[in-house]
Formats: sequence, C-alpha cells, structure tokens
Amino acid sequence: MLISVLPLLLLLLLTLPLNGWTSRPPRVYLSYRDLMESRSARSFTFGFNTSDYRILLLDQDQDRMYVGSRDYLLSLDLGNINREPLIIHWPAPLNRHKECLMAGKGRADECYNYLRLIQPLNRTHLYACGTGAYQPQCALIYRGWRSEDYVFRIVSGSIESGKGRSPYDPKQENMATIIDGVLYAGVQVDYMGTDSALFRTMGNKPPIRTEQYDSRWLNEPLFVGSLVVSESSFKEDDKLYILFRERSLEGENGPAVLSRIARICLNDEGGLRSLVGKWTSFLKARLVCSVIGQDGVETAFDQLRDIFIQQTQDKHNPLIYGVFTTLGSVFRGSAVCVYSLADIRAVFNGPFAHKEGHGYQMTSYSGKTPFPRPGACAGGFSVPGIRSSKHFGEDVLRFVRTHPLMYSSVYPVNRRPLLLLSDATYTYTSIAVDSVPAADGEYTVLFLGTDRGTIQKVMILPRATEETEGLILEEVEVFRTSSPIKNIKISSKRHQLYVSSDVGVTQLSLHRCSGYGDSCADCCLARDPYCAWDGKACARYTPSPTRRSRRQDVKNGDPHRQCRGYNTQMDRGVTERMQIGVEGGSVFLQCDTHSPLESVTWLLQREGTQHRKEVRLPMMEGGAVLRSVQINDAGVYTCLGTENGFRRSRGKIRLNILPRDMLEKLTMLPTQIPLPLQCPPPRRQRPRPVTPQSDRN
Ligand SMILES: *[C@@H]1O[C@H](CO)[C@@H](O)[C@H](O)[C@H]1NC(C)=O
Ligand SMILES: *[C@@H]1O[C@H](CO)[C@@H](O)[C@H](O)[C@H]1NC(C)=O
Repeated sequence: MLISVLPLLLLLLLTLPLNGWTSRPPRVYLSYRDLMESRSARSFTFGFNTSDYRILLLDQDQDRMYVGSRDYLLSLDLGNINREPLIIHWPAPLNRHKECLMAGKGRADECYNYLRLIQPLNRTHLYACGTGAYQPQCALIYRGWRSEDYVFRIVSGSIESGKGRSPYDPKQENMATIIDGVLYAGVQVDYMGTDSALFRTMGNKPPIRTEQYDSRWLNEPLFVGSLVVSESSFKEDDKLYILFRERSLEGENGPAVLSRIARICLNDEGGLRSLVGKWTSFLKARLVCSVIGQDGVETAFDQLRDIFIQQTQDKHNPLIYGVFTTLGSVFRGSAVCVYSLADIRAVFNGPFAHKEGHGYQMTSYSGKTPFPRPGACAGGFSVPGIRSSKHFGEDVLRFVRTHPLMYSSVYPVNRRPLLLLSDATYTYTSIAVDSVPAADGEYTVLFLGTDRGTIQKVMILPRATEETEGLILEEVEVFRTSSPIKNIKISSKRHQLYVSSDVGVTQLSLHRCSGYGDSCADCCLARDPYCAWDGKACARYTPSPTRRSRRQDVKNGDPHRQCRGYNTQMDRGVTERMQIGVEGGSVFLQCDTHSPLESVTWLLQREGTQHRKEVRLPMMEGGAVLRSVQINDAGVYTCLGTENGFRRSRGKIRLNILPRDMLEKLTMLPTQIPLPLQCPPPRRQRPRPVTPQSDRN
C-alpha cells in the first residue's frame, strides 16, 4: 500500500529504523556573518534592481558561469564571481511590458524578461531565452573565442520568438539543452499554460513534440532536468532522458503527483502518416523513492525537486541523484534517492502498461508487441535495417501513441533512499554531489540546498551491507536574507560550490577545515573527508603517498587512534575558575561544549576528598544549575564533553558556598555579594578553539 498525504507518517517515524535518517544536528552551523568572516565565500554584489537569480550554465572550459535573473544575463568568473562580471541588460520591450500589465498579469512582477535558458551553440556563440513579459524571446549571444576577450553581447538582429523554448510564466520551471545545435526543451508552449510539451526545435532537424492534449503522454508536467546517454557503440542509439513530475492519472487512491523519467531517441524524425511531427520513441516510467517501515507500510516521496548527474568510469552508466519531498502539508519530509541507468534501462525494456478501457486498472500488456519494439531507435543496435522513424510501421506508431508508460517502476539503488530527512521544519530543494578521495577510501559528499536558505554538507558513511548513514558535517547560511535555494552547481576543479536563490548568487569553498577547531581531536571528530590534521592545524586534505604525518580517520572518527602524541595531558588548557554560591540559593555552572553532538557529564571532587566522582546535575543550555545549594556542595566541578567515545574536560569550577548566617551578618553590604543565580551566557554559534586533553582519570 502506498500512502502519500500522511498524518500517519509522524507515527511511522517513530517505528522506522534509524538507518539513513539524518537525525543528528549539523556538527557546525555557520550564520551568514560567520561564513563571510571565514573568508571561504563570496556573495555576488550587483548594483542593479533585479531578482530571481538562476545559475543556468557552468562552463568549466572557459571558466565562466552564466546566470539569468529578471532582465539581466550575467557572465561571471568561476574563480571570483565579483571579478569584472560581464552583464547584458535585456528587458522586455516597453510596449510588451505594458500589454502584459493590461492583460491583467503582473501582480507578482511577471511582466519582465526572466532569463531562463542559456546553452552553448559553438565555440563563440551561446543561445539564450527569457520569458519576455509573457512573450518568450531568444537571441544569439557572442562571447568571443576566449574568456580573456571579455565580450558578452546580444548579436544584433538575432532576437526571435522563444515559443516552445522558454516558459511564458516565470513561475513555471523548464528544462532545456542544446545538443549538436538542436534545442530540446521541456516547457509550456502557450500563454494560458494548458499545453506543456517536450519540444525539439532549431538546427537541421524537423521540429518534433509530444502528442498535444493527451494526458497519457504528459499531464501538467513540471520539468526538472535531463541527461544525454550514449547507449551503445551506435551513435543512432543516443538518447535523451528527461526527469519531471506530473499529475497522476491513477485517480482517487494513488498520490496526486508522481515523479517520472522519460526518454527519446535523438535521431527521431516523427512518423510519416501518423505521429507526424511527434516523437515516435517517447516512453516514460515512474521513479519511486520510498521507504518501508517496520510495520511494512511504504512511505513515498513523490515530488522530484532536483537532480544531479554523476559520471562514472562507464560512460554508458552515469548515476542519477534525485531530491524528493513528500506531498501535502502534514509532514514535510525529504529524501535523496540514487538511480542506476542499468535499472532504468531494464524498466524500459520490460512490459508496457496497458489499460483496457475507462475505469479499468493499469495492467501489464500481455499481447504481441510490434517490431521494431517501441522505444528502439531507428538505425540503432536493435533496428539496424530501418534508417528513419518515418519508416516505422503503422502498428508500431499506433502502439507508441497509446502505450507511452512502462508497467514497472524504477526503484533506487539498494531499493531505499540514500538519505532521509525527518526534521519537519525544512525541506531539501536542490543537490550537488562530490566524490572525495580520503586516506581510508573514497566518500560521497552531498551538498543539499534547503528551503530555509542554507546549504548542508552531508557525508555518506557506509555501514553494514547496503546500509548508509548521513552525517551532516556543516550547515551554512549562504545569503544575507534567507531565501529557498534554487540551484547548486559544483566545480571540483575549482573546489567551489555556486548557489543561487531569488536574492542572489554566492560562491563558497567545499571545505572550511579550520572552522572545526584547532586541535587534532576536533579535526578527527569532524570526519570531513576534505580535511586532515597536518601537525599544526586542521587543513585541506590532498591525497599523497608521501605525507604520512597527516592524520585523518573518516571511517571511525577516533582521536585516540589518530591523534596519539597530540592529546597527552588531561586538563591542559582548562583553567580552574572560582565561583561563590550562597547556602540555599542557586548556582549556574557554565560548560561550553564544542559541538552539538557532544554529551556532557560532570565530575565532583568534594572539599576535603581525594577523588572525583560523577554527579548528576540538572542540565540546561550552556551548563548546569544547582538549586538550593548546601555547604557540602562545595568542591571542584569538572565538566566533561564526550563525542564519539572521546572524553575531554570542557571546564573546571571551584565552588565555594557562603553560609546563610554569614550572609545575614553581611546585609549591610548587599552589593558586594555575588548574585545567587548568574544568567547563562548567550550561546555561541561558532566553536571557540579549545586545547584538547585526553582523559586520564
Ligand atoms: C525594483 O523593481 C521592482 C519591479 O518589480 C519595483 O517594484 C521596485 O520598486 C524596484 N525597486 C527599486 C529600488 O527601484
Ligand atoms: C557559431 O554559430 C553562429 C550562429 O549560428 C555563427 O554565426 C558562427 O559563425 C559560429 N561560429 C563558429 C566558430 O562556428
């Protein structure tokens, strides 16, 4: 049974196995100010009035990043996004802006040109499109041969209609990619927004689209992304896979929205007598991202929000990472699922979904499948005899038209999400993935954008077979004013992350090692595969066979093993403080832990005794409170922080208790008596460096 709108899910959370859930808080949380002070990030500063920034393209060859916003197209330097940005101001024509307002649009600032597509055409030219105040327009952009040329302008006379290329409505998501001079776009094709299509235009190929107003093909789709895959040694087999979500046709019982993967052959030319100008190779399948609780109930994350394509050794088999959220407002859950192209292909090679008539259930089609098998590319490995889709038989075209959906669904690798977010106060919106070589192996690190304007860096830690755990290494606020993250792009070459939202663009380094603290133990406990202790500081780790002094232990995060020689003395660096309490009053004992993952225990060596004993104290934020203290509560209190089995002292307080009768004698001098209850200090966001000690008690 599949449940989508879920009051039940809250219950489920209690019964789900912990595996995969990021239940623990981030080890380090940086506010926007902390991030800027760390000098590992830059925010793009722009003097013009604009909004809705989107990173549209990263060009690692020319070291540029292309960003679209309201009325502006930007070309930014990947090394420093503020270094001499190249700017095209491209507003909608003034009369169009006025028409748009008169037509009753514009309440949400729609009557501007929102730049939504930029793709390379060749070495010197790009192709860009915007919404043009509800009248999409496109143009050629000249960018010169090399980035040092510093040119970036619209080729005069090249502005043309962008229908079928850019959306009309700036709130609509779209997908677009140019392959060999041909544009493939997933977009709304009309002003009213009732006709969405997967469109092919430009170049020397005939325009092709999905069947119009046929909800079996597409049903109010929202396009998320795409990837080109060469499927065999035959160029004719090259396919475009498109990821999107759409309204479900399954009626009352199923979820309202489903995630999909569709595919088409790049060399599709449409049919000759039927399906003229339509895809003859369009097929789609459901993408499932779900988790099965201990009670056997399946919880589905049905809304695909963003994808990341990770290339592997085998160019035919990249991995697709998807971020999904639940539907409905009762519970806000997010999940990351990973799909292999081999699994996806198996579904497209499997049975077709079939419906006998209205009111019938979808079944697996058991009749005779025509030849060539629908979805196979003309001239490809399995259909070498037929050169063009125009030569496909009518039986093939009829079948394709009525059976675009595969019967089986695509399940993620290991049949479970790689990561689940149970925290209901925010969701994930976007993703980038890096593969990081560390001293003890290669680790997958996810950078996840949230709807609260932060980026989370999550390391995937392999557990038992097929099981993983997500460790949130850090969470950073990347904009001055919080706004949901729209895109994340990563440049492993530059070691930078680029992030956009409605309010701006920020670049940040993939690591902030020194922020974990300035001891070997802090560096080791952080378990960040980008970082290692180099003998003096927590610094970026670069794999090298000769640097044996570098300490890193991502797998276990065990300072006892990794930091021998760096943490010898028990209480070093912690100085004893004096504090006075009044008999019968309350005392606050301060204890600053370094990480939210640290648990605190207290040791007490009573006045006149030799040994420290563990005591249970009522904890509160930043320390503990002793109420109604007695004379025999005096002594030395040591606060110990324990993280991942590693203990060290975090504070030492010598508490003296003033007898009440002595206080009464001193009433003439009340101002000289310390306040019985001191307020806890404000909680710091950033850990202060602390010298580590190992516990020799
Ligand atoms: C910026 O442009 C928007 C158009 O949406 C306008 O409403 C706003 O007043 C402008 N702000 C400034 C400071 O010019
Ligand atoms: C790139 O394409 C543009 C537009 O089609 C064309 O004018 C230009 O000559 C091309 N440049 C190269 C180097 O092929």
